[in-house]
Amino acid sequence: MNLSAASYTLSKMLSRSSQLSGFAGASAFLLALFVSPPSHRQSIPPVSPPTSPNVAALGELLFNDTTLSEPGGMACVSCHDPSTGFSYPESGVNFVLGPVPGIVPGRFGNRKPPSAAYTPYLLTGVPYYDSNVQAYVGGLFWDGRASDTVEQAKAPFLNPNEMNNLLHNVGSPDMVVEKVKNGPSGPMFMLVYGVNVFQKPVSEVYTLIAQAISTFEASPKVSPFTSKYDAYLEGKATFTAQELLGLRLATGRWNGRNGLPYPVSAHCMDCHAISSDPSQGPDLWTNSCYANLGVPRNPNNPYYTMTDPTNNPVGYNPLGYDFIDFGLGDFLYPLMGLPPADLAEGDPLGIDGTFKAPSLRNVDKRPRQAFVKSYMHNGVFKSLKQVVHFYNTRNLTTVPGEVIDFTQPDPYANLKGKPLWPPPEWPSPLTLINPQGLRGGDDKGGSMGNEQIGNLGLTDYQENCIVAFLKTLSDGYFDPRAPEKP
Ligand code: HEC
Ligand code: HEC
Repeated sequence: MNLSAASYTLSKMLSRSSQLSGFAGASAFLLALFVSPPSHRQSIPPVSPPTSPNVAALGELLFNDTTLSEPGGMACVSCHDPSTGFSYPESGVNFVLGPVPGIVPGRFGNRKPPSAAYTPYLLTGVPYYDSNVQAYVGGLFWDGRASDTVEQAKAPFLNPNEMNNLLHNVGSPDMVVEKVKNGPSGPMFMLVYGVNVFQKPVSEVYTLIAQAISTFEASPKVSPFTSKYDAYLEGKATFTAQELLGLRLATGRWNGRNGLPYPVSAHCMDCHAISSDPSQGPDLWTNSCYANLGVPRNPNNPYYTMTDPTNNPVGYNPLGYDFIDFGLGDFLYPLMGLPPADLAEGDPLGIDGTFKAPSLRNVDKRPRQAFVKSYMHNGVFKSLKQVVHFYNTRNLTTVPGEVIDFTQPDPYANLKGKPLWPPPEWPSPLTLINPQGLRGGDDKGGSMGNEQIGNLGLTDYQENCIVAFLKTLSDGYFDPRAPEKP
């Protein structure tokens, strides 16, 4: 995790933490103890991000400005490239590692870069317990530690494992502001914010930098809504039989939204939600909820080997291979004045090992067919087929019908077959979705919520259809500026 940026965000949020550990914290705590298993069926209305063409154009310059790292050479775009839907552009790194290198040789982050697209539309704020979704929701990064895209954009510049603007081992906004002033984005910055803008206090200028980047992320250049799915919604594209079945399976509805239940559901929409009422705003394919899917460790996570404090005093990994990513738990517990997840007694909020459900837009977008993308917070999966197969079979073994029960003290004792997947990175039955691997239930209530993942009972063909549907979420299917055909 990004230590300096986390503490930076933390200090920004200290005023909120008193609120959190007061009423909101207490009620969230009680809710977490007394609610039934999550059903995640609600969507969260999209945010309407600010738009301004000039500011967005400046944001684009800053996003692509490779003079803003220390040493120079790395920009936001280095890890969030349009060709991959604003995620990582090097196939080899995605295939072998998952988490990616920073500007200083030998330094790596601990997580995979998610897509930066559509993020200004996502639910903002410190993650909180939402009783409709029945889960924690909101915030940016895999663990919610940035409350919005403006706060988010301030972090990578100061992260030792990313753009590394550090002075005496402390993240230095001054260094970034100085670089903007003297670099290729400087003139445009003064054009947009005034010739005297660099006389303002550094913290104000730093916020303007982040706001411009955020406005760019919200603009049609990054978040264009030009996928085949968007065209399909407008009646301008027809889905193939596979894509349509994939949509039905992903949503569990005949019409792919709010209609009659489809007989088979993969429950994707329970977390990667769209609104039942399309007039509420565009479909983001997430309700920003947090969940522990039981994703295995990524044995090739380069962060495991970054154990040397002399080379990397701020961003090194003191735990080596014992490092476990607790996701939301590592962020929220310290914020509430409680010990971090790995030291805490138990997990009173049920958040350890949970990560934010990302938008599914552009999950497949890649520059060529053979290009490999990595998936999940640690990048352990290398294809969408693998991801969907994991959702379908996490709790199964090589013996047909055998189901692993993660609520048992030793879930792997007495198994007749070999588990199909390595154990979860954080196998807590408290936070694993569907730890018993129960199958059945439907969208009409009842045991709903207990069968979201692990043993979905999908056929190979149905898995492929879901993948075919996910591919319809890639932008660039149509050009919004092209004149309509008569
Ligand atoms: C060295 C690679 C790298 C660089 C450079 C980088 N990022 Fe990221 N980005 C990541 C990683 C890794 C994460 C996930 C980190 C986490 O969740 O702890 C991330 C997360 C994000 C997210 C959050 C997405 C979400 O769904 O929550 C946004 C937005 C983003 N980056 C934008 C930016 C911007 C803007 C810049 C430039 C100021 C930038 N990134 C520079 C690797 C990078
Ligand atoms: C219980 C909530 C939940 C359900 C149900 C769910 N997801 Fe997810 N999804 C998540 C979370 C949380 C993550 C991130 C998990 C992690 O990194 O550990 C995720 C990650 C993903 C990713 C990786 C995205 C990336 O950029 O790395 C894909 C693809 C995906 N889900 C597709 C699906 C599909 C397809 C389905 C239905 C078969 C589905 N999900 C069902 C919550 C859910």
